[in-house]
Amino acid sequence: MTKITAAITAVGAYIPEYVLTNKILETMVDTNDEWITTRTGIKERRILKKEGAGTSYLAIKAAKNLLAKKNLDPKEIDLVIVATATPDMPVASTAVYTATKIGATNAFAFDLQAACSSFLYGMSTAASYIQSGRYKKVLLIGADKMSSIVDYTDRSTCIIFGDGAGAILFEPNEEGLGLQDEYLRSDGNGRDFLKIDAGGSILPASEETVKNKQHTVIQDGKTVFKFAVSKMADISAKIMEDNNLTNEDVQWLVPHQANKRIIDATARRMGVDESKVMVNIQRYGNTTSGTLPLCLHDYEKQLKKGDNLIFAAFGGGFTWGAIYLKWAYNSN
Ligand code: UT7
Repeated sequence: MTKITAAITAVGAYIPEYVLTNKILETMVDTNDEWITTRTGIKERRILKKEGAGTSYLAIKAAKNLLAKKNLDPKEIDLVIVATATPDMPVASTAVYTATKIGATNAFAFDLQAACSSFLYGMSTAASYIQSGRYKKVLLIGADKMSSIVDYTDRSTCIIFGDGAGAILFEPNEEGLGLQDEYLRSDGNGRDFLKIDAGGSILPASEETVKNKQHTVIQDGKTVFKFAVSKMADISAKIMEDNNLTNEDVQWLVPHQANKRIIDATARRMGVDESKVMVNIQRYGNTTSGTLPLCLHDYEKQLKKGDNLIFAAFGGGFTWGAIYLKWAYNSN
């Protein structure tokens, strides 16, 4: 019997219109374009300004973009996963609402949360459903409205994050293309270094938590940076080693876009030339669950059937991992 692998067969994306540049941030907090550019690589990020619109707004747009490009009837979709750290609301899944709004009426749906590794973990989850033979079409959307949890008076975090979403479709493949290997890890000792203190079951929302600004992201940037550099580099090198891949064999590194310096360190450790590294952090900042599919979307036309891609991410929790995937189609 032929082994079923799980291949990506379509990509879609959506970024909101409003552009928050470094120059605009200079008028909001004590920062400057030079600092942000040299320390992070970010020049601008997108913000969803539309009143009453949450993460599902981004997810629906990205999914519809994919459906249109692929000319796919949403009724054929079996499962919709929304990877997100900023669901529309704490209870009532963003994925369920998204699935209904895109017309995926034969699908079941759920959210998946692993901070900046949400999409990477989602790839593993989506692929497993395909590999098991249970489902034929799994739509994975990575979407985050980070502006809803950012304190725009905190210069150490507000310069980093942006809003955006990307979507990919996983389908069975009998040519051996698609997900080849994965290496996923987590460490709960890291949770205090990147978190939102209130609004969960430990510290429910109250007048006090609002007054103390405990509903926005706080990050010990230096510590997270240190872990992100070493973990992303280590696992990317390991997944190459485990699969006997040399730097020549790798066509693309698809790294989480948290900081250009983390991306560069990962590429250096893998021995991969910068021309093979997907980078769009300068335009979108860190969109959390959106970074990996937004990279695929922006580079889709350059991808060729059979290309070896290494995905790598690190995020709050801590969570991190790498995935080795063979690209399954030529987009031209
Ligand atoms: O995606 C989830 C995972 N997250 C990450 O991977 C993020 C990892 N961390 C980082 O990317 C970096 O740590 C940051 C970009 C957040 C910060 O960069 P850094 O080079 O680690 O800066 P720092 O926190 O060590 O701060 C250096 C200096 C400090 O001033 P002093 O104490 O040296 O006088 C900060 O107060 O830079 C100051 N600073 C700023 N200056 C201008 C911090 N933020 C800013 C700012 N503009 N926006």
